[in-house]
Amino acid sequence: MPQIKFYKHEQIPMEMHKVKIVQQLNLLPADQRLEKMKEAGFNTFQLHNIDIFMDMLTDSGVNAMSDEMQAAMLRADDAYAGSESFFRMQRKLDELFGIPYCLPAHQGRACENILATRFVKPGNCVIMNYHFTTAKAHITRVGGYVEELVKKEGLETHSDLPFKGDIDLEALEACIQKETPENVSFLRIESGTNLIGGQPVSYANMKAATDICKKYGIVTVLDASLLQDNLYFIKVREEGMQDKPVREINRMIADLFDIIYMSSRKFGFARGGAILVRDEEMFHSMEDLVPMYEGFLTYGGMSVKEIEAITVGLDESMDMDIISQGPQFIDYCVRVLDDYGVPVITPGGGLGAHLDATEILSHVPQEEYPAGALTCALYLCGSIRGMERGTLSEERNADGSERLASMELVRLAFPRRVFTLSQTEYVIDRVKWVYDHRDLIGGLRFVHEPATLRFFTGILEATSDWPEKLVEAYKADFGPDQ
Ligand code: F0G
Repeated sequence: MPQIKFYKHEQIPMEMHKVKIVQQLNLLPADQRLEKMKEAGFNTFQLHNIDIFMDMLTDSGVNAMSDEMQAAMLRADDAYAGSESFFRMQRKLDELFGIPYCLPAHQGRACENILATRFVKPGNCVIMNYHFTTAKAHITRVGGYVEELVKKEGLETHSDLPFKGDIDLEALEACIQKETPENVSFLRIESGTNLIGGQPVSYANMKAATDICKKYGIVTVLDASLLQDNLYFIKVREEGMQDKPVREINRMIADLFDIIYMSSRKFGFARGGAILVRDEEMFHSMEDLVPMYEGFLTYGGMSVKEIEAITVGLDESMDMDIISQGPQFIDYCVRVLDDYGVPVITPGGGLGAHLDATEILSHVPQEEYPAGALTCALYLCGSIRGMERGTLSEERNADGSERLASMELVRLAFPRRVFTLSQTEYVIDRVKWVYDHRDLIGGLRFVHEPATLRFFTGILEATSDWPEKLVEAYKADFGPDQ
C-alpha cells in the first residue's frame, strides 16, 4: 500500500486486495457477553470465537490467506519423508535469507524449545532486546535466565522514536563482560518487538549488536516472527533504506545472524515455523531434536498444505503493498485514539494497537492486573477481544511475589488483510467509550493460577461488581442489543 493519494477525502489507509471469501460475524447482546466473560474466568483466551465480534487477540495463524496461497495448498506433496513441499519451502528460504540449512517446526515456540535445549545450560544467560513469553519460558525451563537490554527509551509509552526495539549497545558489551562470553548462550534479537508494542529494531542496531557478539564469539539469533512489519519500518523510517527493495533489506538483515527462527503463523501468513542455520555443524547438532519433538525433518509437525502456503506467504512478505497493510491500519487507529486523548503506545508499531492500561486505569493497582481488567472491559463493551500484555502475562518470582511488568498493555492485534476500515472505526469508537467510562472499571484476582504461562489458562474474577455496573452504563448508551 504505497500511499494512494486522495482528491477531496482525508488521507486514509487503503486495502490493496479485495474480499473473496467471508466469515459471518456474531454480535451478542451485552448481558450475554457478561455471562460469557464470567464463564471464561475473565480471561479472553478462554472465550469461544463464536461469541466474539472483533477478534483482535492476535495475528498468529489468523491472517487472511491470498488466492495464491490457497492455490499452492492444492499441490501439496503428501509424504512422511522427502516431501517436495518441504524442499520448495527450503529453497524459498535459502533464496530470501541466503541460509541453506532449515529445521522445520510446528510453530515459533517449538523453535524456541529446540534452541533452548541445544544452547542453554543451567546458569547460562541469554541476552535479548526484550523477551517474548514463550522464548523466556523455554530458557528458564532448562535453567537459564534472560537479560533484557532494550534501550530505556523503548519502554517509554509516548515517543516519536522510530526504532524503540533497539538494544542498548553499551549495556550489551558490559553484560557480555560481566557474564563472560562462555556463559552467554546466545544473543536473541526480536524483530518487531512484541511485548513493548510491536516496535521495530533498526538495521544499524542489528548490525552493531551482532558485530559486538562476533568479537566475543557469541552466537547470534534473530526471532523473525514479526520481521515483515520490521522490514516495512526499516524501509520507510531508516535513513538510507528508502531506495532499497524489501528483498535486499531482508538479505542484509539475514547476513548478520548465525541463526534465524520464525513463527510462520505470523511471518509467512500461514501456520508453521522454521529454524534457519548457517553453519552445517551447528545444524547437525540440532537435527535430532526435530524428529524427537516435532516430526520428521521434512515436515516438522506442519501439514504439507501449510508448508506450501508458507512458501508463497514468504514471497508475499517481500511485497510493500502487502506488508504495509498492517502497520498503516495500526497507525491510523493509534493516531485517532491519540488525538482523542486515549493513552496509546506511540509511534504505532506492527502487530497491533497497544493501549496503556497503567495510565488509563491508574486507580487499579498493578497487583490487580489493570491490563487484564481493561481487556475484559473491551469485550463487555463492544465484543472486542484483545490480549493482556502486562503483569498477568509474567510469571511470579521464585518467592511467590508478583513480577510487576514494566508495561501494562492491552493489545488490539490487526491480523493482516482481515478487518476493514469501518470495523477499525467501530473499534476506535468503543475504545473511546470505554476510556470515557474508565472510572467504572476495577481489578481482577486469580481463582485458579497455573504456575507457567498463567495467562493462557488462568481463571480470574472481578474484585467487585464493576463488570455489572459497566454493562449497565453501556446499555444505557447503546440499548440492550449491542
Ligand atoms: N516470537 C514472537 C516475537 C512471537 O510474537 C511469538 C508468538 C512467538 C515467538 C511464538 O510463536 O506462537 O508460533 O509459537 N506470538 C503470538 C502472539 C502468540 O499472539 O503474539 P508461536
